[in-house]
Amino acid sequence: MKHLVNTTLAAAILALVGCATSPKASKTIEQVMEEGFEGKQSLCAKVSKGEGSAKDLETMVGLTYQLTLNTPPRGDLQSWTEKTTALHAAAKALAAGNPGAADQWKSAVNCKACHSVHKPN
Ligand code: HEC
Repeated sequence: MKHLVNTTLAAAILALVGCATSPKASKTIEQVMEEGFEGKQSLCAKVSKGEGSAKDLETMVGLTYQLTLNTPPRGDLQSWTEKTTALHAAAKALAAGNPGAADQWKSAVNCKACHSVHKPN
């Protein structure tokens, strides 16, 4: 009986840990693109010009995090994870004011490099 309780408890803990380590995206890729990347006046454009406020940078950290949680409609997941993780890391570096963060962001935020592999035609 004690063994059963332990097993059940272990399973419950595992389930909880599983939830904590793989959260579900609350925004789709399309939503992130529309909210943060689309157009000349986008948050992304502002951030790339170095004109993002602290709040803008925080928003970008959140949006890029959402990208990492998504699965791309095209291309393989490993490539997607590399690109989105780099982008998210660059947003965090900008928000933290790290030296070199602007360059890190510029190379990670390459629209075409990502779209050519992951955006459906
Ligand atoms: C890390 C990858 C990645 C980067 C970087 C990226 N995009 Fe996207 N974008 C995507 C994917 C994937 C889609 C397709 C989403 C779908 O159809 O589900 C997309 C779709 C879009 C769309 C269409 C949204 C819609 O409503 O269907 C626009 C507009 C867009 N991106 C703009 C941009 C711009 C501008 C940049 C650069 C400043 C950029 N994206 C950078 C991955 C990326």
